[in-house]
Amino acid sequence: MKVLGIETSCDECAVAVVEDGTHILSNIIATQIALHKPYQGVVPEIASRLHTEWITQVVQTALDKANLTVNDIDAVAVTNRPGLLGSLLVGVNFAKAFAATLEIPFIGIDHIRAHLYASQIEHPLAYPYLGVLVSGGHTVICKVDGYDTIEVLGTTIDDAIGEAFDKVAKHYNFGYPGGVAIDRLAQKGDPLAFLFPGPSLQKGNHPYDVSYSGLKTAVINQLDKFWNGTAPKSAENIAASFQRTAVGLLMKRVQKALEDTGLTRLAAGGGVAANSFLRAEMNKLEGIEVAFPSMQLCTDNGAMIAGLAYRYFKDGIQSPLNISASPRVSAFKKSYP
Ligand code: KG4
Ligand code: ZN
Repeated sequence: MKVLGIETSCDECAVAVVEDGTHILSNIIATQIALHKPYQGVVPEIASRLHTEWITQVVQTALDKANLTVNDIDAVAVTNRPGLLGSLLVGVNFAKAFAATLEIPFIGIDHIRAHLYASQIEHPLAYPYLGVLVSGGHTVICKVDGYDTIEVLGTTIDDAIGEAFDKVAKHYNFGYPGGVAIDRLAQKGDPLAFLFPGPSLQKGNHPYDVSYSGLKTAVINQLDKFWNGTAPKSAENIAASFQRTAVGLLMKRVQKALEDTGLTRLAAGGGVAANSFLRAEMNKLEGIEVAFPSMQLCTDNGAMIAGLAYRYFKDGIQSPLNISASPRVSAFKKSYP
């Protein structure tokens, strides 16, 4: 079964064709990074406009790359939640029209579930596993019992981890997108030049929750306070020290979650799962089988949408053509007093 997967929830106009859930025939990611760079962040109006202009060509390129025509596609899947509403709607409406014209099955896919599933395409893990989604919009530690059965254990109570990378990089002009720039700078930096504090584990009902706003504030506003007094206050040293702390505080929660649940497998996903230091730290976990998506499947892509959609289609699940797009999903948010 050949599934066309469309992803337009943020600033990547991405389309893939995946056969039987595992064989990626094409995976086209037309990135808008250069067009948002002057603003050092994604401008929603620009993003949706570009998706509208690009989507037809990106779909055609994905088909060409797979050596297929529209008539070879058996089903179509699209991210319909969460994300930038105007951007989501472009993909959703394109996918609906595609499905209606060809009279093929259609499904709307949850972007968060797709990130948590992405590594399964190339490195299948048996369920259950600990899912760690680290992206620009989300930080979620969860128990994944099946492709659609996810129990959230912890989440961010303020900024997402990728957002912290992006804001620190923006403040210091490290480059755009921020996560990639910090990862690169940190390779040449001293991770102990600044000893930023990481919040201690939350007590009570939320021990796996993370918070990044304190660290962000420390790095941006209180650099001198946490300086070790000897290392140069260079971009490389700021990047390496921030990255060590940001990844360290996540790893503390991940380790606790692994111990408490007894899970022996872990799958990471999302843009920050491309981070070299995070990958190295996760690979050090003793007795844990760790799966990462390949670099192309970490950040937003259509293959994870098509791959996950295949599971639903196989179980006879589809969406009606009148589904909407939603900027938020409640399942991955916990309520706080
Ligand atoms: O998954 P993604 O493409 O979009 C969301 O769903 O949010 O993730 C984008 C995020 C951005 O915050 C970006 O700075 C971060 O992933 N990112 C990285 C790296 N590559 C991308 N963060 C740290 N290290 C990287 N190598
Ligand atoms: Zn994403």
